[in-house]
Amino acid sequence: MTDEIKKGLLGIVVDETTVSQVMPEINSLTYRGYAVQDLCEKCSFEEVAYLILNGNLPNSIQLNKFMKEERTNRNITINLREIITHVPKKAHPMDVVRTVVSVMGLEDKETVDNSPEANMRKAMRILAKTPTALAAFFRARKGKKIIKPKNKLSFSENFFYMCFGKVPQKEIVKAFDVSLILYAEHSFNVSTFTARTITSSLSDIHGAITGAIASLKGPLHGGANEEVMNMIKKIKTPNKAKNWLIDTLNKKQVVMGFGHRVYKSGDSRVPSMKKYFLKVAKIKKDKKLHKIYDILEKEMIERKNIYPNLDFPTGPTYHLMGFDTDFFTPIFVISRITGWSAHIMEQYASNKLIRPLSKYKGSKHRKVMLLNNR
Ligand code: CMC
Repeated sequence: MTDEIKKGLLGIVVDETTVSQVMPEINSLTYRGYAVQDLCEKCSFEEVAYLILNGNLPNSIQLNKFMKEERTNRNITINLREIITHVPKKAHPMDVVRTVVSVMGLEDKETVDNSPEANMRKAMRILAKTPTALAAFFRARKGKKIIKPKNKLSFSENFFYMCFGKVPQKEIVKAFDVSLILYAEHSFNVSTFTARTITSSLSDIHGAITGAIASLKGPLHGGANEEVMNMIKKIKTPNKAKNWLIDTLNKKQVVMGFGHRVYKSGDSRVPSMKKYFLKVAKIKKDKKLHKIYDILEKEMIERKNIYPNLDFPTGPTYHLMGFDTDFFTPIFVISRITGWSAHIMEQYASNKLIRPLSKYKGSKHRKVMLLNNR
């Protein structure tokens, strides 16, 4: 045993996983051995969700069965819909989505069954219902009528439909699908490690995902995609981007959407997402977001040798699609449910209670004085 402290568990390998890895030989994030770029071009989000949860890509029979299970589980209870319409309109949607997963845990008929089969069924229900609950809040807080899910639509199409009442053109849906594929899994990041830590005490999947959502909310993790958009809104026009960046760096402030604990010379997910961001920008006749993007990217690499992470292209893409900025991280949630669930099931299959040590630096031993003598 060593006394050396590794703050933030920097460089510490805590367990094994078969879910995902950054493969050095292809310099890419891979899910179950497949490069994410390859998956983005050849698969739908549903195929990738199946892959992450089951370990292999589905054939068409397996995919149809999987899609049927997801589509038939989309409805939420009247009770949950009521809760969503009664939460404060100003509540952050991440707090709402954290609450709805927790409520689903109260309502699920298999909450106490932590067998692999029950966990898979519960994972599917959380995956199917969370977008419905999120879209309900998207509309309820604007005073709009909640739209029920449509079983004929794909996962991404249905989310647009429940938020906006219509499905946009297929290029926009594809861009959204790509963002979900890229957000689906990323090994032992903070939220996944949180989910695994909760699971390690043999707690249940709803609790582990609720905790993971709380962890994802922070701006150093999932919350960065919202912060990217807030930053772009502050910059306002491309001609102000360079000076804004210089000023921010001079003040030693962090530029959101840049840098990564694992990728130090570029996030392998960014080129795929940037490609679809530019397609959406073209469709939406965007005149400034993509220009601000290019300027910040170029200047950060030249001045600091720091590259964008996935949150940099997803932020403006979601904005152009019409989503409210505070819904960006909850969208990340509806995708990452797949990765979290796979890790939770992996943790169960080979569990060891996660319980690190700390180095005590508080008061020396002292005697308790009775209240009157203190
Ligand atoms: N803007 C300005 N400087 C930066 C940035 C940035 N975005 N990222 C890193 N640096 C600097 C940092 O100031 C430090 O400089 P120095 O050595 O002079 O003190 C150096 O680069 C090393 O940074 P670090 O913070 O020690 O690196 P880390 O691996 O601990 O942090 C990070 C990674 C993601 C927390 C950090 O890059 C950051 O705060 N980025 C902005 C927030 C963000 O975009 N988060 C999303 C991460 S990707 C999605 C996910 O997986 O959750």
